[in-house]
Amino acid sequence: MATLIAVLPGDGIGPEVTAQAIRVLQAVAPGHDLALEFAEGLIGGAALDAGEPPLPPATAKLCDSAAGVLLGAVGGPKWSDPEAVLRPEQGLLDLRATLGVFANLRPVKPHPALLSASPIRAELLADVDIMVVRELTGGIYFGKKTRSDTDATDECRYTVAEIERIVHVAANLARARSGRIVSVDKANVLETSRLWRQVTTRIMAGEYPDLELEHMLVDAAAMHLLSRPASFDVILTENMFGDILTDEASMLAGSLGLLPSASLGVAGRGLYEPIHGSAPDIAGRGIANPCATILSAALLLRHSLDCEAAAGQIEQAVFRTLDDGLRTADLAGGAASASTQEFGDAVLARL
Ligand code: IPM
Ligand code: MG
Repeated sequence: MATLIAVLPGDGIGPEVTAQAIRVLQAVAPGHDLALEFAEGLIGGAALDAGEPPLPPATAKLCDSAAGVLLGAVGGPKWSDPEAVLRPEQGLLDLRATLGVFANLRPVKPHPALLSASPIRAELLADVDIMVVRELTGGIYFGKKTRSDTDATDECRYTVAEIERIVHVAANLARARSGRIVSVDKANVLETSRLWRQVTTRIMAGEYPDLELEHMLVDAAAMHLLSRPASFDVILTENMFGDILTDEASMLAGSLGLLPSASLGVAGRGLYEPIHGSAPDIAGRGIANPCATILSAALLLRHSLDCEAAAGQIEQAVFRTLDDGLRTADLAGGAASASTQEFGDAVLARL
């Protein structure tokens, strides 16, 4: 029986980049005895335009029955009226919550051929290999919101159980890496951060005494990510800090268009998406960088289909394409040597 992959192209450049990732998945599957079947669903602005809620019930059902979900991006100026009741982003948040994918893994490892594409000096980047573990289904993203004519509130709430489970994810990853975790919070100001710090300290001391834990305030972490990025290994943090720090960290790699992510829950099924957004300014022009989405497809093979060999094959093909000098516009300014489709072609040729 074929393995079902749900594909949610979404908005902006989402459809362009997911199309390349699907081509790559289709190309590697036979060599690894994988029979993959793809089914598309609506999400975000594309769903709103079709008269559906941002996460249509049919899409939620499709994703629930799939082995893995590959998502492009959601959002865009067309749907960002501050008065709007329904927003594309809500579809993504609902999907993350529905699938229970509380652990968002965002690896940041600058590719040697791209060190000059980063605004950070190359000598600071050579040894950078960071795994950001972002809590994805709690915190201020999911708290109660209120709005009146004169004020607005967003509640930030974390439970002990939510913190415990993400600490275990980070600790298990750290064990397989250098054994060091930096937990990022704002414990000098936020009560949720003080709870985060307390729970993290307890779990780490009690169950992972072999690992090294350091607490860091988010403002300092933002600075150290630029001044000494190679000193980080696993970064463990809450939902909103993880969102912000990973956009910052993408500049170490050279472009937001390079970083993939895997969102995992307790089941094997995961949600895989580039960390970038829908990039409405370049949508429809065929110039978006498909790397982040292709690499997210590799993570899908690794984490949800348990197919390390196929995942590695895709990653090597992407890296060789970069080594051979192909550059989409985000990495080359005016001197791009590949369109989205041409980059996809080049990866296929190197598989
Ligand atoms: C991300 C994105 C999303 C987030 C948006 C689109 C809701 O920025 O995945 O990083 O904030 O989580
Ligand atoms: Mg983000």
